Amino acid sequence: MAKPVKKVVVTGGGGQIAYSLLFRIANGELYGKDQPVELSILEVPQGVESLKGLVMELDDCCFPLLHKVRYDSDPRKMFEGAEAVFLVGAKPRGPGMERKDLLLENGKIFVDQGKALNECAAKNVLVLVVGNPCNTNCLIAMHHAPNIDPSRFHAMTRLDQNRASYQLAHKAGVHLDDVTHMIIWGNHSSTQVPDFHNARIKGKRASEVIHDKNYLEKEFFQIIQQRGAEVIKLRGKSSAASAANAALGAMRSLLFGAKEGQFYSSGVFSKNNPYGIRGDLIFSFPIQSHNDKFEIVKGMEITPFLKAKLELTEKELLEERDAIHHLLK
Ligand code: NAD
Ligand code: LMR
Repeated sequence: MAKPVKKVVVTGGGGQIAYSLLFRIANGELYGKDQPVELSILEVPQGVESLKGLVMELDDCCFPLLHKVRYDSDPRKMFEGAEAVFLVGAKPRGPGMERKDLLLENGKIFVDQGKALNECAAKNVLVLVVGNPCNTNCLIAMHHAPNIDPSRFHAMTRLDQNRASYQLAHKAGVHLDDVTHMIIWGNHSSTQVPDFHNARIKGKRASEVIHDKNYLEKEFFQIIQQRGAEVIKLRGKSSAASAANAALGAMRSLLFGAKEGQFYSSGVFSKNNPYGIRGDLIFSFPIQSHNDKFEIVKGMEITPFLKAKLELTEKELLEERDAIHHLLK
């Protein structure tokens, strides 16, 4: 018997990330090749007309698993019964900007979308916020959805994790599969903390394989913290296909967990976290999931170097939260 259809929502449907993400979901890359999906695509009213062309392209792909496509500018219609929601729709930054410069303009989008999720989505919905600055936007959406368990709200730091894994594999001259436990702490911003200390290469600490401390503490950090800005500088637009790929990977980890003994990064509500981070932020931690429950992985070793970096990213998140305090009322 055919499985019941899964309802997936992507916001910002007319944008560049959605143009990659939607086709991959429709192709079965989120839930798997035996799971029919229904796509609901949200755009601002002036962008809805262009979605007709996008839907024509989805039709023309003849995806066997794509049961139905809906599109609209009303979040309440699009979020009805939603089980997996990608909140992508938001303005991207341009050259020379920090992601937090988008906060006042983008933050307000997540007030109404949080309320709409609260009213209309499935109670066990999983929400992945991609639109920047994603940690604080996620905090806003979660705040306005009190009927949904806060653990269902995540901000995407998977792209940073992927970038960091690639750089370590490249530097060490090993296959990507040999790099494990690579996680990102804190904000998806230039203060993020790519944790090479706890990362493993072929089961050993990365620093036992890459002996160049200066590379790990300076160059590696700089590459990962500035990777998004570098892509914008060179491409003229922010990362899109790699962001869509990370969004799929992040949501798959939330749905299906990581491989045995491994974990992944995700921005989650920091209440009662075991690392002493203030409890009212969306902060990226190492996460493991079991039976649809998410846990922050305990016992990671925090060196003085890491501790100083964690304090910086926490401070930035507190500043971001203060800047949108009015949106949390
Ligand atoms: P884009 O400009 O190509 O597309 C954004 C789309 O969102 C536009 O079509 C716009 O009309 C739509 N939109 C705006 N407000 C909306 C609303 N209220 N409801 C529905 N749709 C709305 O941008 P993009 O390149 O697709 O990037 C989208 C966001 O993702 C940006 O904020 C970008 O900075 C962020 N991003 C995050 C990561 C990450 O790792 N977390 C990675 C890449 C990009
Ligand atoms: C990224 O990391 O590529 C995105 O957050 C886009 C950006 O503004 O850098």
